[in-house]
Amino acid sequence: MSIQTSISQLTLPTLRKMKQERQPIVALTAYDYSFACLLDHSGVDIILVGDSLGMVIQGHQTTIPVSMEDMLYHTSIVSRGVERALLVMDMPFMSYLNTERALDNATDALQQAGAHMVKLEGGLDQIPIVEALSRHEIPVCAHIGLKPQSILKTGHYRVQGRSAQAAKKMIEEAAALEKAGADILLLECVPKMLAAEISANSEIPVIGIGAGNACDGQILVLHDLLGITPGKAPKFAKNFMQGNADIQTAIRTYVDDVRSRKFPAEEHSFN
Ligand code: KIV
Repeated sequence: MSIQTSISQLTLPTLRKMKQERQPIVALTAYDYSFACLLDHSGVDIILVGDSLGMVIQGHQTTIPVSMEDMLYHTSIVSRGVERALLVMDMPFMSYLNTERALDNATDALQQAGAHMVKLEGGLDQIPIVEALSRHEIPVCAHIGLKPQSILKTGHYRVQGRSAQAAKKMIEEAAALEKAGADILLLECVPKMLAAEISANSEIPVIGIGAGNACDGQILVLHDLLGITPGKAPKFAKNFMQGNADIQTAIRTYVDDVRSRKFPAEEHSFN
C-alpha cells in the first residue's frame, strides 16, 4: 500500500530545518477561506487562526469572549484554503483550563477543524497541559511574553521582560515549555535582545511579534498588515498596503521582507 501525502504540506521538521539554516519563517493570521488561499499561495509558512478574531472580526474589546465554537468554525473554513502552510488554531480563553478540557478541545481542533497545531498562552503554569498534549502527539505552540488573554488581570498591553528579573523568568519559561514538548514558541512584545537570546537558546522555532528581527520567524495580525484594524495600530505593526497597489502585492511584500529580515525594522522593535 502506498500512502500519498498532500502536495507539499509544510511539516514541523521542515520548520526546524528552516531554523537551523537561518531561513526566516513567515507567519500570518487568517480567519476565512479566501484569505487562507491567498496567504497559502503567497508563500506564508504558518497560518494562525488567532483568537484576535474576537477583536478584528467580531468587534469585541478583547479576546476573552471568543468561544471554542467560534475558533472551530473559523479554523474549518480557513483549512479549506490551506494546501501548503502549517495551520495553527488558537485555544481560546478557558478552553485549556485543565488537562482533560485541553485534550478534548485540541482533539476537536485537529479532527473537526483541520488544524495541524494548537496555540495556547502561558508560562510555567501551563507545563502540565503542554506535556499532556505533547504526550498525545498534539503539536503545540506556546505563546509567552504579552498574553492578551490576561488583559482583565493586567489591565494593559505592554512590553514584557524589561526588568532583569522578568527577563530571567521568561528565559526559564521558554526552556521549560520546550522541555515539556512545545514545538514552537511565540514571543509577543518582548525586547529584541531578550527575544534574540531565547531564539538562540531554543532548538524549536521561535516566532516573534514585536520581538525584533532575530527571532526564527515573524507573525502579524492580517488586519494590521492591511492597515484596516480599527483604532491605533501597535508600534510593531506595519501597514503593507502603503506603497503596494493591491492586497496580493502587500502580502507578497510582507513575505519577502520577513525572509530578507527587512521586517521588522528598528522602528517596529522594542529595547
Ligand atoms: O490571536 C492572535 O492573532 C495572536 C497573534 C497576536 C500572534 O495570538
